[in-house]
Amino acid sequence: MTNKLWGGRFKKKTDKDTEEFLSSFSYDIALAAYDCMAGLAHVKMLAKTGMIKAAEKKALLKGLNLVLADIKAGKFDFDEPWEDVHTYVQQILKEKVGDVADKLHIARSRNGLVSADTRLLCKTDVAKIITQINNLQKSILASAKDNKHIVMPGYTHMKHAQPVLYAHYMLAYMEMLERDKGRLANAIERADASPLGVGAICGSSLHIDREMLSDEMGFSRVMQNSIDAVSDRDFVLEILAALSILSMHLSRLSEDFIIFSSDEFNFLDLDEAFCTGSSMMPHKKNPDALELIRGESAEVYGNLMSALTMMKGLPLSYNRDMQLDKKFLFNSLGIVKKELPILEKLIRSMQINKSAVARQLADEFLYATDISEYLMKKGLSHSQAHEAVGKLVFYCLQNKERISQVKIETLKGFSNKFDPNVYQLLNGTTSVRFKYSAGGTSPVIVMKAIRSWEKKFKTTGK
Ligand code: ARG
Repeated sequence: MTNKLWGGRFKKKTDKDTEEFLSSFSYDIALAAYDCMAGLAHVKMLAKTGMIKAAEKKALLKGLNLVLADIKAGKFDFDEPWEDVHTYVQQILKEKVGDVADKLHIARSRNGLVSADTRLLCKTDVAKIITQINNLQKSILASAKDNKHIVMPGYTHMKHAQPVLYAHYMLAYMEMLERDKGRLANAIERADASPLGVGAICGSSLHIDREMLSDEMGFSRVMQNSIDAVSDRDFVLEILAALSILSMHLSRLSEDFIIFSSDEFNFLDLDEAFCTGSSMMPHKKNPDALELIRGESAEVYGNLMSALTMMKGLPLSYNRDMQLDKKFLFNSLGIVKKELPILEKLIRSMQINKSAVARQLADEFLYATDISEYLMKKGLSHSQAHEAVGKLVFYCLQNKERISQVKIETLKGFSNKFDPNVYQLLNGTTSVRFKYSAGGTSPVIVMKAIRSWEKKFKTTGK
């Protein structure tokens, strides 16, 4: 028995190295169950349109279910050099039910099939990833709520900027992840269309029912153009792009935590379960999991670039180059699926070192902007206030004084609007309390945001 779906026209055997080179089985094996499901739908459709007899339908359904059961149990036949997963399912089916298996391929081409299988896998995997993002968000939200009173320095350019609530900082990641879910859901909405029944490129003269195939497979609609149906990989690119942006977010979160858990900052204590030691330096506890999450984003970006580059020069319609999309796609899906639960657990278990965070708030330049706004409220223009506080900062640097040590008479030298109440501005709690503009870091606003996230998860579960 030839293990190919196209032996008739050929006299020679495929060159061994070429055969190995052509095979996608090592990675498209992930599509095996979906391929059986597409087969089951196809058989039902062929019976309905009268293309196969009732007995043939029965045999094929039974056989395909046997193949599917083996696949679900992880039983595969790796003895043959299978060209791809579609060939595999077809030939294993033949082993189980005999020649009637050939009828499965009536009015069917792998060109449409591979796209359908991949779309189905994406629907399942992306739904899984969205659930994982929800779980990560819940752990971020819990950390924000548990530490809702902690004020920390906010950084721009990695330099002390203005105080923020730790919870506010964490909620920034909630927003980013929410957009990631939106992008993924959006990509799936467009992927959710059935390419089945388009033949190899132009449809079929045989009696088929594409609507039925689509409904059987749970697609929301049928793709409208047969050439597009076998050529399109936009859904792969969109998912890879959404995963790349998600990976960028996970990488930034990891980077933040790496910095915050460094010996210099010491804001965060990561649980040992997510760290490793050094083979030489006995004292080390390294944030390797976070570093790898940061590092793996490179591969996820690479997969997007590979897929985009692979597609860009392809004439319509199907070309074998497109087989490689699965390598890139499955790799990125796999990476992200592994990372999300790790980050979720890491956040649930990490501790915040309150005193180390508080020590940084002693840098009174963190309140320079508050002082500037104080002067503006007393009638100075922005540039007058900015200039006055700028000069005060310069004075403090020159004289090695803290703002709180500068006497009121001296302060009045920088602006006669200064009153003794200015000294009350020099602490984190006061600083954040007054940031009540929409989206700001005041505890009232941040608690409102926490409650609204909680309500959203409670009512919608996501
Ligand atoms: N393994 C192929 C892929 O992944 C299936 C389609 C092959 N079609 C063909 N006519 N050679 O794209």
